[in-house]
Amino acid sequence: MKKVLGVAIATISISVLAACGQEPAAPTQAEVPAEVPAAEPAPVAEAAPAAAPAEAAPAGAFEPPAWAYPVMDEGRGRGPDDGTLHTVPGSTLQLTQTQINDPFNPPDWYPDEHPPMPEVVAHGRQPDVRACAQCHMPHGAGHPESSGLAGLPAGYIVEQLEAYASGERVSLIPARSASMVTIASAMTPQEMQDAAAYFSSLPPVKWITVHEATEVPVTFVGAGNMRHAEVGDAAGMEPLGNRIIEIPEDSERAELRDSHSPFQAFVPVGSIAKGEAVSAAGNCALCHGADLKGGLANIPAIAGRSPIYIARQLFDIKYGARKGAAVGLMQGVVATLSDDDILNLSAYAASLEP
Ligand code: HEC
Ligand code: HEC
Repeated sequence: MKKVLGVAIATISISVLAACGQEPAAPTQAEVPAEVPAAEPAPVAEAAPAAAPAEAAPAGAFEPPAWAYPVMDEGRGRGPDDGTLHTVPGSTLQLTQTQINDPFNPPDWYPDEHPPMPEVVAHGRQPDVRACAQCHMPHGAGHPESSGLAGLPAGYIVEQLEAYASGERVSLIPARSASMVTIASAMTPQEMQDAAAYFSSLPPVKWITVHEATEVPVTFVGAGNMRHAEVGDAAGMEPLGNRIIEIPEDSERAELRDSHSPFQAFVPVGSIAKGEAVSAAGNCALCHGADLKGGLANIPAIAGRSPIYIARQLFDIKYGARKGAAVGLMQGVVATLSDDDILNLSAYAASLEP
């Protein structure tokens, strides 16, 4: 047991890998602005008829939960760049906020820690292919808003890019996938291959610690849809309830896109064990491999990835926003999952070593 921000409860150390992604930066704010309806019904659900024989649940009555689909709170974006030079421990780089959020030249604080990045990963291609490293980071761990890509099968990565481009994959809150739709639609097949080979070659790192808790820090959703603990007068604790709250260990460093700056997730007491039971009953390991570390051919690892990313994907698949041939394998699985099962599975999977 360990005290976590004043709250105690079983602290389970986990890791993650890659999962979190980050929706990014300034540019994304523009796309996920206020008018983005937090509950746009999944248009795709309705349109899915002919497609999968499966049974995407009707999305109509479903409100994507704010804990899984955070959208920036009004007025909580980054302020103007005041020209300050920022750095992170262990790096010699010094960059302004504008440079840190440059979608075509994102920071590479620790260039010696990863193989050379292909051009599309390091710089992208103007005007629409933003550098993958901006949100998924040079080491591929990403932030909870996007997705971890390190170590995923290259074939799976290419398939997902094709699915964003073809319209088969959107988010239940379309603004959340809008950046990927734009980027993937503009990529050449060669760029897809290059990016997939790079991220697939990276070892997933431990990137998340999962804590079972009854109380959590009061949080807000800031730039790029990243959730942070409040500071100053607004700081405090509140009941966790039936949510997963995932925040940086160090908000300032996460905002600097520091790839040494991991995340922590607070999950309901007992959710990890419940998730383990649902995983066993649902045979997740059959396809996702032992300990969900990756299994058959192009099936992604789930272990140690961002719990809110995992939850979004299970909801997106269950309610029909994410479809396609391979997704058919998941549809029978999610049809039997309650929304609570999804929360518990997400807590469990995130708590595993990547
Ligand atoms: C502006 C931020 C941003 C940039 C830049 C970006 N991504 Fe993403 N990426 C996201 C977000 C957000 C998601 C999750 C979208 C969703 O909910 O479906 C995502 C998801 C993905 C996924 C799905 C992962 C999975 O496990 O299924 C892949 C693959 C991916 N991105 C590849 C790329 C590649 C390759 C590039 C560079 C060409 C790139 N991304 C650039 C934000 C970004
Ligand atoms: C019959 C095989 C099969 C089983 C069983 C299965 N999955 Fe999957 N799962 C897949 C495939 C295939 C995909 C990738 C779909 C695609 O290509 O878009 C996937 C994708 C996912 C994703 C999205 C990953 C990402 O990177 O976006 C999650 C999360 C997931 N599965 C969780 C689970 C959980 C939890 C269980 C058990 C309750 C489970 N799966 C059982 C085949 C399976």
